[in-house]
Amino acid sequence: MNFLSSDDFSRSAFDRVLEIGQAIDKGGEELALKTKSVLVLYFEKPSTRTRLSFEVAMAQLGGSSIYLDPSTTQRSRGETLGDTARMLGRYSDFIAARLYSHNDLLEMAQNSQVPVINALTDLEHPTQALADVYTILKHKKRFKGLKIAIVGDVANNTANSLMLTASKLGAEISLVGPKEYPPNPKYLSKAMEYSKVVVGNSLTEGLEDADIIYTDTFVSMGQEAEAEKRKKDFAPYQVNGKVVSMAKETVMVMHCLPAHRGEEITNDVIDGPKSIVWDQAKNKLLMNKALLLYISEQA
Ligand code: CP
Ligand code: NVA
Repeated sequence: MNFLSSDDFSRSAFDRVLEIGQAIDKGGEELALKTKSVLVLYFEKPSTRTRLSFEVAMAQLGGSSIYLDPSTTQRSRGETLGDTARMLGRYSDFIAARLYSHNDLLEMAQNSQVPVINALTDLEHPTQALADVYTILKHKKRFKGLKIAIVGDVANNTANSLMLTASKLGAEISLVGPKEYPPNPKYLSKAMEYSKVVVGNSLTEGLEDADIIYTDTFVSMGQEAEAEKRKKDFAPYQVNGKVVSMAKETVMVMHCLPAHRGEEITNDVIDGPKSIVWDQAKNKLLMNKALLLYISEQA
């Protein structure tokens, strides 16, 4: 089984992964991979959290991991992605790939005989969304009746995966960003099948009664050429003290990190009492373990 998109998992699959995460969090069970497994991390783009949390997850589950920078492999000399995936799958038990193009990820999965996990592409970041929903459940105890406002770039990988995952679990989603950067229609219509999703450009309207404010960079990896324009266009959607005060008094602020302090979020908010970003980042380790255990229990 692969985890290429947040839509690959049913509601009950998410419930099971969350349950494994909770069991690990409680520390009550000895959880380990049944066989000594190897995870290959094949990363075209930089990473701090995703790489480290997968490597530590494998070490703590009794397996091991190997990090491959494609520029140091024969891929850099023209070996095809398909042939590369065939090789990775012959030496390992899982592949976690961080790629520029989501289509390349699909091609890897087609050619791999072991499960492929999306560790971020231009379209999705499903392992991030797992950590996000775990964090939300831990702090807010429910999804039903909960309003999650995604502010700023509502069309990027983290927004796409969070809107699919959280809507499938029953939360209401409010997408608030500039008119010129609408949500990806494919992800929006999917999420609307699962729950209530409202799209708007007004912060006061979009944040009214919000329980969670979620933001991410204005310039994702791969968008560097448009950086200056994007920073200007998204500036009115900075999550600052005034914006936070538009939501519920009990609102909590999330960010997948890395943060660009002073751009999409201000220091007083990310370092303030409503911020749960460090717990959210920590939960990537927990939920990567839960995901690896879930995939191995399906095999
Ligand atoms: N949130 C996240 O995916 O961070 P990294 O880019 O550091 O892995
Ligand atoms: N949207 C960001 C997420 C980084 C973890 C990016 O793709 O750069």
